[in-house]
Amino acid sequence: MSIVVEPVNRRLPAAAATVPEGPRVNLGCGPVFGENWINVDGSRRARLVSRAPRLDRLLVRLGLLRPSTFHPGVVYHDLRRPLPWKTNSVAAIYAGEVWEHFEYPDAVRVTCECHRVLMPGGALRLCVPDGVEFWERYLSIFIEEQAKDRAHQDAARLRAHVQMYFDDICTRPPGLRSFGHYHKWQYDEVQLMDLFTRCGFEEVARRAFRDSRIPDIGAIERSDFLIVEGIKGAEQTSPR
Ligand SMILES: C[S@@+](CC[C@H](N)C(=O)[O-])C[C@H]1O[C@@H](n2cnc3c(N)ncnc32)[C@H](O)[C@@H]1O
Repeated sequence: MSIVVEPVNRRLPAAAATVPEGPRVNLGCGPVFGENWINVDGSRRARLVSRAPRLDRLLVRLGLLRPSTFHPGVVYHDLRRPLPWKTNSVAAIYAGEVWEHFEYPDAVRVTCECHRVLMPGGALRLCVPDGVEFWERYLSIFIEEQAKDRAHQDAARLRAHVQMYFDDICTRPPGLRSFGHYHKWQYDEVQLMDLFTRCGFEEVARRAFRDSRIPDIGAIERSDFLIVEGIKGAEQTSPR
């Protein structure tokens, strides 16, 4: 008897289908502004830039703020609130390095909201840091160091990795810098695909960098991390 083991990081072949015509939304855009996209961000600075651009410019001139990385066309919206589009009205949604900034229950709500606003055949595409890669790296350093004799083991390499986790990934920075700038969850392929499925998405699969049903994804996708895409099925109503 032979056992067939599927590759862990299997990805679908290049996307052939495409999404319907309609609005495309870039959620948690940060400084990445797509010209033919609705670019949305919920940070305080996005709010200032979009709602009071003259005040923002004045504060920069007075040296009270650094120049903003937000484009003046950014739409301010805190994604933890219901999305500001009608049911079945959006053709595609992309979010690069955003979902890890939500508490898990918020991530479920936002994902289901995306399902609600998407048109049948519309796609949601999420890119997040891959927790598996992070901990694989930790494990490989550990195995290398453990294999050495005690006198040559270098615990500093492991400390540096742990430090990065607590300093750069999951520690809440103090005061006003806290909004959205630290991670509140960590994903892997299994969890992320499950999140799509539990919100009703179909044809959920891991995708390669910039390989998408969504035309023009190259304008806004800039990280080759863990990327998953799914569509809202043709006959579906949203679960919520
Ligand atoms: C790491 S940046 C990603 C920027 C860009 N999408 C990219 O691919 O580089 C995360 C962005 O998500 C935004 N964000 C985090 N939580 C948010 C929320 N609850 N509502 C709206 N935007 C949020 C932050 O303000 C920030 O601009």
